[in-house]
Amino acid sequence: MEIKTFSNYKQICNVVSSNIRDLVLHNNNPVLGLATGSTPIGVYKNLASMRGISFENTITFNLDEYRGLNHNHRQSYHYFMKKHLFQYHRFSKNYFPGQSNLHKYDTMIKNTGGIDIQILGIGTNGHIAFNEPGSSRYSATRIVDLTDNTINDNSRFFDPLEPIPTQAFTMGLSSILDAKKIYLMAVGKHKEKILEEAVYGDIYEGLPASYLQQHPNCEVLYCD
Ligand code: GLP
Repeated sequence: MEIKTFSNYKQICNVVSSNIRDLVLHNNNPVLGLATGSTPIGVYKNLASMRGISFENTITFNLDEYRGLNHNHRQSYHYFMKKHLFQYHRFSKNYFPGQSNLHKYDTMIKNTGGIDIQILGIGTNGHIAFNEPGSSRYSATRIVDLTDNTINDNSRFFDPLEPIPTQAFTMGLSSILDAKKIYLMAVGKHKEKILEEAVYGDIYEGLPASYLQQHPNCEVLYCD
């Protein structure tokens, strides 16, 4: 695994969206693993504007969702996905981890044949999805406590007086690492250090993204 550095964000988004496009055009039942956060928004913008391509056979599994946030809340990941992608194309199914499917989520993914392309961002503490430092490489989809670092990072999206969720539902590292292809996207100087540690440093629980080094087909795309 190595870091591929690009000169701008648009180029990274084009790489990821064109590979998703090829998958959807050439596969009868494509399965996508989708991330939220600011990083993948440009990918969804590209997909949203694609004409002449049908997502009607495509199943999506989102990585995570806040616990205790109404799905209509503008900071919920349900709302995010609808706003950036799902309102533009009809999909076969759009799944999110939640209370009702928590113990089935990993099996549901396996039953589709597995995730063909997984999009990932990275938290400034090295988390992927909401697998915070300390997460086992074999972790299943579950409820997690968010670290102060993550709550602080994500507080910028909430109104100052609004309570910020402290727990989330997250796909575990096990299902993420089972994806056939992974694109880890990172944008901005503030991500550079943690990305270098994840890609070139030790593999251990304290830095969940470092487990991606064990994946046979993970591309890391970075621009500052
Ligand atoms: C949240 C999400 C992660 C995402 C991270 C980075 O914590 N749960 O999946 O990777 O934010 O967000 P951003 O892309 O805004 O830097």
